Amino acid sequence: MAKYTVANVGDLQPGERIVVELEGRSVGVFNVDGEFFALLDQCPHAGAALCSFGKVFGKSEAVAPDAEITYERSRSIRCPWHQWEFDIRTGESFYDPANARVRKYNVEVVEGCPEDVIDLEAQGIQKGPHILEGYHVSVEEDMVVVDTSRVRRGTQSRRATRVTQLPSTGARP
Ligand code: FES
Repeated sequence: MAKYTVANVGDLQPGERIVVELEGRSVGVFNVDGEFFALLDQCPHAGAALCSFGKVFGKSEAVAPDAEITYERSRSIRCPWHQWEFDIRTGESFYDPANARVRKYNVEVVEGCPEDVIDLEAQGIQKGPHILEGYHVSVEEDMVVVDTSRVRRGTQSRRATRVTQLPSTGARP
């Protein structure tokens, strides 16, 4: 398991998603009003490509029948096959939260640009600290990094295969 750079922050605007290939699995990465979330591109009901073709929509909530209703846009995704709906932040099904859940991945935003990401161990480079005379390097863009580990450990970073940026609606199979 490892961490993969999947996009620059500026390439994934609020309400948008991308689908990438990580370790042979298709994973959807979503920007929900500036927060990033990643889900396996597979519906737990019958296996539809949920992230690739699901419709993203908002979520309305109230703590009681007469309480104020809050609305959050781009918070949920609806499966293109049988219309099950899931919370993008948690992967939980609104229909059956206890038993139906899409696998969720950890996502973090790391300062830097993709060219900075090097797998030191794979390249046989010794870890620092190394002291040398250097020049100032500026950070031009931030990166969105998906962690495929169930338990977070290690610091390996790699580039993901970016598949495509998808529209918010899709066709039924
Ligand atoms: S395959 Fe997604 S709801 Fe049936």
